[in-house]
Amino acid sequence: MSRVLYVPSTNLMGRGCLEDVAPFIEELGFQRALVVTDKFLNKSGIVQRVLDQLDKANVEYIVYDEVKPNPTINNVQTGVSVFKEHSCDFIVSVGGGSPQDAAKGIGLVVTNGGNVRDFEGVGKTKHKSVPIVAVNTTAGTSAEYTINYVITDEERKVKMVMVDKNSLVTISVNDPALMINKPADLTAATGMDALTHAIEAIVTPGAFPVTDATALAAVEIIFNYLPRAVRDGKDLEAREQMVYVMFLGGVAFNNAGLGYVHAMAHQLGGVYDLPHGVCNAMLLPIVERENARRDPSKFRAIAKAAGINVADKTNEQCANKVIEAIQQLSKEVGIPSKLSEIGVDNVDIDKLAEFAMKDACAPGNPFQPTKAEVISMFNEIL
Ligand SMILES: [Fe+2]
Repeated sequence: MSRVLYVPSTNLMGRGCLEDVAPFIEELGFQRALVVTDKFLNKSGIVQRVLDQLDKANVEYIVYDEVKPNPTINNVQTGVSVFKEHSCDFIVSVGGGSPQDAAKGIGLVVTNGGNVRDFEGVGKTKHKSVPIVAVNTTAGTSAEYTINYVITDEERKVKMVMVDKNSLVTISVNDPALMINKPADLTAATGMDALTHAIEAIVTPGAFPVTDATALAAVEIIFNYLPRAVRDGKDLEAREQMVYVMFLGGVAFNNAGLGYVHAMAHQLGGVYDLPHGVCNAMLLPIVERENARRDPSKFRAIAKAAGINVADKTNEQCANKVIEAIQQLSKEVGIPSKLSEIGVDNVDIDKLAEFAMKDACAPGNPFQPTKAEVISMFNEIL
């Protein structure tokens, strides 16, 4: 069986690497960038630091900062209009998962035409996106490494998941110095998203030795450094380690796949506009307990990576310890365990379950739950 590994062709990471990106951009040979970001980052001065690099690379630019926290179809289509209106020839995305996802949608609509709504699902486009230089500012989503992106359809209240190799960016930039001012709750949520990526990528049948190796390395670093990064946002060493996690986890899930934690979390995010990482963190121990009940064999390696002593333990005991460790880590970094704690009640679980079963991540899960089983998993976080 052949395995394919998708990774951007050039990846800059480590402290201060943003300052080194100009020659890489100049080498691409483009003239005018559409800078895709959000208003907050634009005001914060981070976008200006990227624009300084574009100046150094002798590139013109126009800033489009309308991207919402869960980017919408309208965000993408408006971005396409701005791109065309200003005769841009490539994209520079600046931000966390939202600007990165919006940029992928914009890049693909520019080269394929139509509306991003038509790209929902797997491999729906014919042409590669215009080149994207992705400057990431949040440690966790790995959006800058992956062939996935998520766009919200506000009319249908659905998060559309796209899996498309044509969306792969050309250059990724992960400078932990851009992340030091991120608030603790965002650091916690994106860190738990990264842990979910790694664990789902390990238990999925799509895993293979390369993805196992990177995902297990990511698990080890997250358990060691996420609490530090949350406790002290200015801890540059912890921030830098979380940057490496993104690459390691990104390589893993981009190429192995995800599972039911993401399939269910996407629905909560879409309907209630909740942070993706928080939804994942709440669902991760619940879905993995069900996965482990059917096949605990992969949890021995996860336990070891999480720093758990596995000697004299059965695979089942290792799985139980992993689930406890996830819950403990979530608690330590301040993630709620119930939806009611973040003001969500009157949940239409039937609808959520129906949509979760159709989510692009669902087939990657090691077992396929019935609708009743999905409902009972959702019930646990009410
Ligand atoms: Fe995720």
